[in-house]
Amino acid sequence: MSELVSTGVEGLDSILTGGITERATVLVSGNPGTGKSIFGIQYLHHGAMEHDERGVYVSFEEDEGDIREAAESVGFDRFGDLVDDDEIVILDKREMLNEANFSTAVDRLLDTIEGESFDRLVLDSLSMFQLFFEDEHEERTYLLKFSDILKANGLTSILINEQGAVFPDTEVGLENFLTDGNIHFIQTPTDSGVNRYVWVAKMRKQDIDTDIFPLDIGQGGITVHERAAGFSMMSRTDEQSF
Ligand SMILES: Nc1ncnc2c1ncn2[C@@H]1O[C@H](COP(=O)(O)OP(=O)(O)O)[C@@H](O)[C@H]1O
Ligand SMILES: [Mg+2]
Repeated sequence: MSELVSTGVEGLDSILTGGITERATVLVSGNPGTGKSIFGIQYLHHGAMEHDERGVYVSFEEDEGDIREAAESVGFDRFGDLVDDDEIVILDKREMLNEANFSTAVDRLLDTIEGESFDRLVLDSLSMFQLFFEDEHEERTYLLKFSDILKANGLTSILINEQGAVFPDTEVGLENFLTDGNIHFIQTPTDSGVNRYVWVAKMRKQDIDTDIFPLDIGQGGITVHERAAGFSMMSRTDEQSF
């Protein structure tokens, strides 16, 4: 049996009955503000702190400073030291987008992961990465090749998928089929703020709980709670009609 890689979010690891299969590529989808980047940071922070596993954070969206600040804001005080010590390597927006073209930016990423041993990778986001492809065929071929390269280098990877207002897409994108697992982060507005949820829709070769679970973001990062009694995504009115 393959080893399981714990995500650093206890409740999520329970849903996954231990974690993500080693060398899997998992798509984490959600609207802006659902906690995808925090999850990516937590995943790498946990790997480095608890398992002595090195991580790479590739960001097309933020600068290294923003990522360090986000980590500090949820209380990951050692995150900056881990980056300073190269336990977590950040390839940020400035580096990835300043390369002459996309293929040199990808070469840089490949040089990083092929040259040294890393265990965990976060790509923030796949949606930005995909903007560089001409058509679906090219995108599909590339995504499969990319995911093979990640596996061949021993990486267990989180590919972040921006959904909703910024990248409208009502269909199930092909990235959902091409990855080993799909985790969705969901938020719904309430009078006092937002309710957050997580749903593991797919995890190849794993027996998972496909219910939707409540999630919080705060000190310590993301916490996933046990399913509350009578908990439902539906509104009260909908519930009564059942
Ligand atoms: N320290 C914190 N305490 C509580 N909530 C936080 C904290 N830091 C971030 N958040 C929440 O997390 C959200 C952003 O998470 P982020 O991972 O950047 O989202 P995404 O990457 O999905 O757009 C913010 O909108 C905020 O509500
Ligand atoms: Mg983000």
